[in-house]
Amino acid sequence: MTMITEPAPNFDSLARAYRLLEVIAFGRTLERARFCMLDRLAGCRDILVLGEGDGRCLARLVSAVPAARIHCVDASAAMLDRAARRIAGTEAARRVTFVRADAFAADFPPAGYDAVVTLFFLDCFRAEQVALLVERVAAAVKPGGLWLFADFAIPAAGLARIRARLVLAVLYAFFRWRTGLPARELPPSEKILCKAGFFPVDERSFSGGFIRSALLERR
Ligand SMILES: C[S@@+](CC[C@H](N)C(=O)[O-])C[C@H]1O[C@@H](n2cnc3c(N)ncnc32)[C@H](O)[C@@H]1O
Repeated sequence: MTMITEPAPNFDSLARAYRLLEVIAFGRTLERARFCMLDRLAGCRDILVLGEGDGRCLARLVSAVPAARIHCVDASAAMLDRAARRIAGTEAARRVTFVRADAFAADFPPAGYDAVVTLFFLDCFRAEQVALLVERVAAAVKPGGLWLFADFAIPAAGLARIRARLVLAVLYAFFRWRTGLPARELPPSEKILCKAGFFPVDERSFSGGFIRSALLERR
């Protein structure tokens, strides 16, 4: 087995400004991509969220899936703190477990989850890291389980493709500088998920194909 031993990127210093920076750069589009298929997880009992971030998705998820236990793993204490504060005092808080951990080192129960959620998370890593992580996490998903995914993508042609490449170059340079992000370019995460036995059952595109959401099922 390939071992990837490098520190997780550190998003602590960005946690407070993360939402504002996102809205300035992309308006509400990333939120639309995150939230558009949360209701498809409605029947799930155990959900693993990797790289939750500041809790905006979590706050929606606990309402969309009112019976689920949610296991939230993130390497950033500051992000987890914001996420926990977002749902503090609600009934849902009892159903959510927060774990500060590197997703590459965390233990996941075999076939323990009905669904995994990675939103703008897999694009933090290089292709070989995504393949390794998907392989580890896939073993924790029940047969027939779901993987809800959203990330940036590079449109096939035209101005949209040029624009996407430029914006991604700036984004990767910024996040490498601020967090130590290991990736320099988008990994082929959807292909890696398919290779690991997850097949798309629904997908949505935003901003001319620059942003994608996909729901995949483990066959
Ligand atoms: C780009 S942000 C995405 C946050 C959120 N999911 C969203 O939709 O905006 C990446 C998140 O993944 C976390 N993260 C990055 N590398 C990680 C790792 N190796 N293990 C666990 N969490 C990690 C960061 O702390 C951050 O909260």
